[in-house]
Amino acid sequence: MKEVQLHDKHFELFISSEEILTKVADLAKKIEVDYQGKEILFLSILNGSFMFTSDLMKNITRQAEISFIKVSSYSGTSTTGRVDELIGLATSITDKHIIVVEDIVDTGITIDKVITLLNASNPASISICTFLYKPSAFKGNNIPDYVGFEIPNKFVVGYGLDYNQLGRNLDSLYELKNN
Ligand code: IMP
Ligand code: MG
Repeated sequence: MKEVQLHDKHFELFISSEEILTKVADLAKKIEVDYQGKEILFLSILNGSFMFTSDLMKNITRQAEISFIKVSSYSGTSTTGRVDELIGLATSITDKHIIVVEDIVDTGITIDKVITLLNASNPASISICTFLYKPSAFKGNNIPDYVGFEIPNKFVVGYGLDYNQLGRNLDSLYELKNN
């Protein structure tokens, strides 16, 4: 499919499924080399990274734990405003080597929140593996360690990423058309 419409917007093909799968396999190989002799706990951030996580894990050939978490921001009862929490973190991460799996690091605000919350449980190490990274939008503290594709500051959908909840099931990546 060269083009797709989601709600009121039109998107065109940006990165094909074939290119994505080749890149994801490369990322898995890099991780395996870097983590030789270490046990990894992959923490996938839902919803956006479900497809990336699935393909990445199929290319990890050794034993590894995989868990899925969500970041939630709710209004606290005090005057402190928004409070962030991680939902779904069932296993202990203390002294474990964590790889956070994200769909996209855009401004970096979300990943900063995740890293701060995870660090509170004293893991052995944390690194970030993201399918997409927008360096020109980034203003965070945690630069991703493993990046599938660096992309310009454009809005993209597919391969887990959505526009108002649609487009997550597309196997390729699509970018917003300007007209
Ligand atoms: P952040 O700006 O790095 O905190 O990214 C916040 C979230 O915005 C990401 O986890 C995505 O869910 C979403 N997001 C950022 N850029 C895009 C995009 O181009 N398409 C779809 N979702 C995006
Ligand atoms: Mg996300």
